Amino acid sequence: MSRFYDLVTEHVRTLGRGTPGKPKRYAERDGALNCIRMASNENPFGPSPLAIEAMQAVAEESNFYPDNNVAELRRKIAERHLLAIESVLVTAGSTSLLGIIARTLLSPGRNAVSSERSFIVYSIATKAAGGRLIEVPMRHDGFDLDAIADAIDQNTRIIFVANPNNPTGTIVGPDALDRFLTRIPDHVIVVLDEAYYDFAQYFAVARGVEYSRALEYVRQGRNVVVLRTFSKAHGLAGVRVGYGLGPAELMGYFRRMRTTFSVSVMAQAAASAALEDAGHIQQALENNAEQSALLSNAIFSMGYHVSTTWGNFLYCELGGDAGAIASALQVEGVIIRPLGAWGAPTAIRVTVGTPDQNQIFLKAFKKVMDGTPVR
Ligand SMILES: Cc1ncc(COP(=O)(O)O)c(C=O)c1O
Repeated sequence: MSRFYDLVTEHVRTLGRGTPGKPKRYAERDGALNCIRMASNENPFGPSPLAIEAMQAVAEESNFYPDNNVAELRRKIAERHLLAIESVLVTAGSTSLLGIIARTLLSPGRNAVSSERSFIVYSIATKAAGGRLIEVPMRHDGFDLDAIADAIDQNTRIIFVANPNNPTGTIVGPDALDRFLTRIPDHVIVVLDEAYYDFAQYFAVARGVEYSRALEYVRQGRNVVVLRTFSKAHGLAGVRVGYGLGPAELMGYFRRMRTTFSVSVMAQAAASAALEDAGHIQQALENNAEQSALLSNAIFSMGYHVSTTWGNFLYCELGGDAGAIASALQVEGVIIRPLGAWGAPTAIRVTVGTPDQNQIFLKAFKKVMDGTPVR
């Protein structure tokens, strides 16, 4: 037993360490030259030039604390979504907001419900708050909303729904969500995590279907909190800025739990500018739609199963040791995510890259899979 084991709370002892993606520079230091990072669903084209300019412009003010109310950015977000500013909370990434939601609503004895094989932070945030996460089995690689509703008990306070889901890329449609919400008792808050909103909405238009009515739920004052982020389509993962939309009173409680000044001067300026750069977002969405199809077809034609994605990543079932495949790919200079920690030891998640990156990935993938006795 270590020196501080007895000092920390019991629920902190049970927390895993988590395995965020390896930063590119460290992977390169570890031996892979000119690594391509396709492991964390980032925007491969970088941040918007407008966001870079905005960050440079405020860099000189970095000696001052930021606006703790994040007033300008919240106003812009509220106007864009036709919501009151009190319904908007901006945080240092949506990961941070997940922690705040869990700490506000959970404590030992209370629980949250989600699906297996979903965003790993739901489990970390729940446990760190002393709560228990009930993970319901999936149906067809997607959320089984009926089973989730069945799992609710009097101690449940949160349901986490990743829509689209990371890592499987599936969505739950609006009719299914409407029905689901009628089954949710008043003591439960539904967190609709729409980190990949822009990609899913783009696909939905192209596929001629409706994707989400999440904002309507917020406007109706339902027990729903919608999460969005600037980390994906907007290309600002390293800056750490995301937001939640929900009932004003509840958002007020979350605001109390936020770390003071946690959304930096740079983050506020970058996000504000990125919102205005529709062209930059469009580039990411168009590339993603075209290149995800190309990548899926190529992987599928090699005999592997690829789920239809609604995000900027592919969930691939390879039938062999995904950890070994990921290591072999890294030697070839490509970092992807093996999904053993999600209970899918033979599956990988690959972020859709630029056309050039995808070609490099495919070349490496063919080489690795030809040489790996996986099936
Ligand atoms: C489903 C989901 N929610 C939230 C996030 C976190 O985003 P942020 O960078 O805003 O913390 C991710 C990031 O991968 C995600 O996949």
